[in-house]
Amino acid sequence: MTKKIILELKNISKNYSTKNETLEIIKNLNLQVEEGDFISILGQSGSGKTTLLNLIGLLDSPTSGDIFINGEKISVNSSSVDLIRNKMIGFVFQFHYLLPEFTALENVMIPALTQDFSKKKEIEIKALELLNDVGLSHRANHKPNELSGGEKQRVAIARALINNPKILLLDEPTGNLDNETSEKIFNIFKQINDKKRQTIITVTHSRELSEISHKKLFLKKGIIL
Ligand SMILES: Nc1ncnc2c1ncn2[C@@H]1O[C@H](COP(=O)(O)OP(=O)(O)O)[C@@H](O)[C@H]1O
Ligand SMILES: [Mg+2]
Repeated sequence: MTKKIILELKNISKNYSTKNETLEIIKNLNLQVEEGDFISILGQSGSGKTTLLNLIGLLDSPTSGDIFINGEKISVNSSSVDLIRNKMIGFVFQFHYLLPEFTALENVMIPALTQDFSKKKEIEIKALELLNDVGLSHRANHKPNELSGGEKQRVAIARALINNPKILLLDEPTGNLDNETSEKIFNIFKQINDKKRQTIITVTHSRELSEISHKKLFLKKGIIL
């Protein structure tokens, strides 16, 4: 059985222009991601990992080249891109970006509420399930400043999953966490990937996390080795 290509990058380049020079961060990069893949992206600091993840996540547009999701060419500057991103992609950033004035539960609910407020009750049930999956049901009504670093990151993971994204993008998701907490979080990713067949692409410095993944990509000077 051939697997479906869920994401494809064709000849993607990304330059940043500063006053005096143009920096070529990603150079003619090609990548095919199959549904259910678990890919880790490795590379030195400054090698363009976050830049690449932002391109994949449709948060930034490439200087040249094309991005396809489910075979459909995406134009990142079109108005429909927010909808595609909301439906298809979940993000966990290096820093959690939880909203401080809302509880853990509300933070998880928000990306779904903004799409359909009339489903509030269903969304709440789903958010509680996700908090349970990340071992935080007992912290649902706590605000971010009442949570530890690892707990905040787990809330951010639950939030990334609320819209049932086909693709989960993780940027050094355990970069600031201790080993034990990191291990818990790795297990969550493994389960999501195994049981729900959600595609995961993670940037990481962690050997353990890259060992769980199915494929490792090394980024160096804007090229995948
Ligand atoms: N908005 C920007 N303007 C100019 N240069 C940038 C910008 N964002 C990132 N860079 C540069 O691009 C390179 C790659 O950055 P990044 O993708 O964040 O690397 P990594 O995540 O691998 O550490 C770095 O040298 C960084 O300084
Ligand atoms: Mg980075």
